[in-house]
Amino acid sequence: MGKAMQAVQTAAACIAARLPFGGKAPQLALVLGSGLGGLAGRIEGAAVIPYAEIPGFPASTAPGHAGRLVAGMLGGRRVVCMQGRFHYYEGHPMADIALPVRVFKALGCHALLLTNAAGGVNWAFNVGDIMLITDHINFMGSNPLRGENDDAVGPRFCDMSRVYDPALQAVAAQVAAGQGIPLQKGVYLGYMGPSFETPAEIRAFRTLGADAVGMSTVPEAIAAAHCGLPVLGLSLITNMAAGMAGKRLDGQEVLDIANARGPVFQALVAGIVEALPCTSW
Ligand code: HPA
Repeated sequence: MGKAMQAVQTAAACIAARLPFGGKAPQLALVLGSGLGGLAGRIEGAAVIPYAEIPGFPASTAPGHAGRLVAGMLGGRRVVCMQGRFHYYEGHPMADIALPVRVFKALGCHALLLTNAAGGVNWAFNVGDIMLITDHINFMGSNPLRGENDDAVGPRFCDMSRVYDPALQAVAAQVAAGQGIPLQKGVYLGYMGPSFETPAEIRAFRTLGADAVGMSTVPEAIAAAHCGLPVLGLSLITNMAAGMAGKRLDGQEVLDIANARGPVFQALVAGIVEALPCTSW
């Protein structure tokens, strides 16, 4: 076992000792992006673990992101939930962003739900839309797997052909249809930030095949693929990307829209959690 797996096991042991599942493993891990933090409030019998109390977890998170792990029951499932995530633009090393994902795998989770706020790049999208992530483009300028590989975590060269699990996508689409929520589908482009993109970059990204752009999710999805954790990704389109709406972008407006659409987004994610075929997990 290398250093990476040792760090994973130290953090996992700390968390496992505080999980409220009577010794059972969590079934699902959720990363709550902007606007979704409120979902943690729906978790029953919650144990709350501040990141500062977990070895190896960075303590600080971005505006609109609480910094704690919330574990408990959601939709009848045992879930661990990151209420607030780590972003590359905050200065965290990529390995720190990968750590929680690897810890979820070590704890026994069977799937990872990644959520985020994103700018719409596809002209057919509207502010407030929810997009099912079918694939991503890594434009962050780095990769969480860079550096020495710990074979106990995953392989040196990691297949990325099916990061976003087709079966999980099918469940999400079915639940959205049942709730009357039109679901967009598309490719999420991860941009390092923290500046928003220029209009020229957005035109370029559209040409490259991006449907939405954001500053998170990609490192976590890569870490999940590496350790064999199936991913479901959902983006809340909080704004049309730079140059598309004839106005300047504003971080506060992104958070305001995320919070305004939060309840719909939360209901969808809660419905998906409930509908996932976890019975054998
Ligand atoms: N660009 C990058 N990240 C974002 C955006 C955007 O337009 N909106 C929300 N997160």
